[in-house]
Amino acid sequence: MKLKFCSRIAGVMFLTFSLNAQSADLFSYSAPDGKSGLRLAWRVDASSDWQPLGENFNFVSSDFGPWGSHKTMFSPQLFINAADSLWTCVWSATSDGSVTALTTSPDLFSWTPQRYFANKLDLPRDMRPATSITADSVLIGGKMMKGFRQTVDNATIDRIKKFVADRGKRGALFSQHAKDDPTRFANLSDVSFTATANPSEAKQISDKLIGIFFEDINYGADGGLYGELLQNRDFEYTPSDRHGDQNWNSTHSWSATGDGSFSIATDSPIHPNNPHYGVINGAVTLTNAGYDGISVKKGEKYRVSLAIRSVKPMRLSVTLTTPEGAVIGNAAIKTKGGDSWTIYKTLIKATRSVSGAKLNVNFPKGSDASVDMVSLFPINTFKGRENGLRQDLAQTLADLKPRFVRFPGGCVAHGNGIDNIYDWKGSIGSLESRKPLRNLWNYHQTRGLGYHEYFLFCEDIGAEPLPVLAAGVPCQNSGIPGHHSHEPLTTLGQQCGIPMDEMDTYVQDVLDLIEYANGDVTTTWGAKRAEAGHPEPFNLKYLGIGNEDLISEVFVPRFKMIYDSVRAHYPEITVVGTVGPFYEGSDYDAGWKLAEELNIPMVDEHYYVDPAWMIHNQDYYDNYRRNGTKVYLGEYAAHLPGRPNNMETALAEALYLTSVERNADVVEMTSYAPLLAKRGNTQWRPDLIYFTNDSVMPTTDYQVQKMYGNNSGTRYIPAPLKVNSSDKNVTNRIGMSIVLDEGSSEYIVKLVNLLPVEVKGNVDLSPLGITAKEMTGEMLAGKPTDTDTTPQPVKVTFPQVSLPPYSFTLVRIPANK
Ligand code: AHR
Repeated sequence: MKLKFCSRIAGVMFLTFSLNAQSADLFSYSAPDGKSGLRLAWRVDASSDWQPLGENFNFVSSDFGPWGSHKTMFSPQLFINAADSLWTCVWSATSDGSVTALTTSPDLFSWTPQRYFANKLDLPRDMRPATSITADSVLIGGKMMKGFRQTVDNATIDRIKKFVADRGKRGALFSQHAKDDPTRFANLSDVSFTATANPSEAKQISDKLIGIFFEDINYGADGGLYGELLQNRDFEYTPSDRHGDQNWNSTHSWSATGDGSFSIATDSPIHPNNPHYGVINGAVTLTNAGYDGISVKKGEKYRVSLAIRSVKPMRLSVTLTTPEGAVIGNAAIKTKGGDSWTIYKTLIKATRSVSGAKLNVNFPKGSDASVDMVSLFPINTFKGRENGLRQDLAQTLADLKPRFVRFPGGCVAHGNGIDNIYDWKGSIGSLESRKPLRNLWNYHQTRGLGYHEYFLFCEDIGAEPLPVLAAGVPCQNSGIPGHHSHEPLTTLGQQCGIPMDEMDTYVQDVLDLIEYANGDVTTTWGAKRAEAGHPEPFNLKYLGIGNEDLISEVFVPRFKMIYDSVRAHYPEITVVGTVGPFYEGSDYDAGWKLAEELNIPMVDEHYYVDPAWMIHNQDYYDNYRRNGTKVYLGEYAAHLPGRPNNMETALAEALYLTSVERNADVVEMTSYAPLLAKRGNTQWRPDLIYFTNDSVMPTTDYQVQKMYGNNSGTRYIPAPLKVNSSDKNVTNRIGMSIVLDEGSSEYIVKLVNLLPVEVKGNVDLSPLGITAKEMTGEMLAGKPTDTDTTPQPVKVTFPQVSLPPYSFTLVRIPANK
């Protein structure tokens, strides 16, 4: 983490020295509907008006409850507690006062992770609101506000004012957008820089810098990367997947026509983990509409499989039809009679290319049958694997040349409530035995794409697997309580945590995953891997524990149990911890403190930020400790208002990555997030790759990832830029990095210009022994709003380079040229 001045000490010192200073009044309050954080106002004395400290500035926000408007703060009481003389804020996190929240701060700016109490009386005695604060109603900006008043010294007010003013300046800087560049840079011209490569200061950097983070969000897995073409093949959709939506049920995506009946039953299912199935009586055609239709290609073959239990033997036909009902492929299946389930398989060939096709299972007259696990899969999956991945999407991912794949989330990994934690064991084995799971992005996970398939995909593309398991706690934004009725109300909507008496079993599950991946075939879980067709180990090296969790008193003991056990049993595994969802704040601070205490090898940082944050924070990692815990920047993306993907976001990421390469001795891995999004089923934007059933639409941000992924190095060669301007708005918009790929013995030079004018550079590579004058590279260039730019070949001359406005230039130079 950053080596930074300890603000806790600063705050306490401040209190000590300012006791005799002149005083003013401070007022703490929140919006009457609870939809704000802690607000502060001040006045000189009783004869003056109250002034807000910051315009709608939240000094701390409640983190209790599910995302968004559920996070409320009522009646915040701010005081200095008796325990450790820290600022303490206590508020009601619910409108009925059923949950009380507490956090402390040395300076009113950095706060400890929040704690929640079902009963106000459970608050630690010495952290209960002090009598030195008085309930009051005061007029602030023309509105009457209820809150609490206290007397503080003037220096405290000055300090708060300065902080708020600094935040305002910072906010303005980080929200600079390229649309204002014509004004911002109206008089800019003749920008140039010089740089000289300095191999004597070269350093070894990570060879795993660019990877991918796959999560089943935006229909990324089911309906996306997973090759299955039928929707709700297992009849397991249920309203609870989707907040009680009654249309989201076992018959979703299915329709039945003909002279008979179709119903859903649950007695004697094909597997207890897959309890629902269809029951057919009579001559019925059961039709599946796929995910917004099924796309098939002329001449291609598709695997059909279905589980049938039929009283008598029968002859079924399976057809592919156009939306208008014309048959474009068919196959026949003869079933045997009896009372057990049998899985039947056949192939079907499409005679036409159609989007929006349907699959029909035609049951003959007199049928008395049960049906489950109806599946349609292209033969042509990625690497031809059965139960494999959609070829075009998987290839688009492979083209990034990712060095690792993080899976299965994100929030999907830790789930909404503990019963929704992604249990890896429920995602392996025969398809009918896998446990379908509610997807917290409001749909359904068949988990046909499960842990085994993720491992295979990594192997197929030569990437390290980086599975992420929950740290015994679900998503910090959970709206679903734990599964024990005795759990206190405060677990509602928060990190309830797996009960401690179940943690040993959970820890064992974590160890079993490592055995599944790496154990030899004589081990229990290694044998299951072999049964699944992969006797060779998957060589798992990394394991994520936790996903941007609250570093709370629920999280810490559970994380430690898992971490200690993995370290004891598998010291060779690099455990990746978590430091919250932001680049600063309570969880970042507490997460890093924990990482350093426990000597966690690596932590996962997340930040979705304005492009200008990336422009102005290229020094973010420069002061990180070089020899301690390493960083995995597991989720990041540049977010503009409206959340587009365009050249502005892409170039900000390209620029920021030059600084990450400079720090790739500390930042060992990075992955943009999220990865995939199906048009029409997108819960989160921007994403790296959009797709429909028929097409794949990589974004400009994808082009940047691909340029980096295909051009990473193993040694960083410093070549600091000297720009002919002292204006940070100018200098921070130009970036360069030089790396050496020791495998190919090539230097790779990356140059980014985020200015609206051409930049000329003098890049002296002669210290590297490079004499070549002109090289062919590739360049991504366009207007900031362009959305479909792709890299084009470009001639790059050295030492005099020319960087067009809004461009990213990349060139590989053989070391001996
Ligand atoms: O990438 C989308 C989501 O962002 C992830 O699921 C979560 O980890 C983060 O909040």
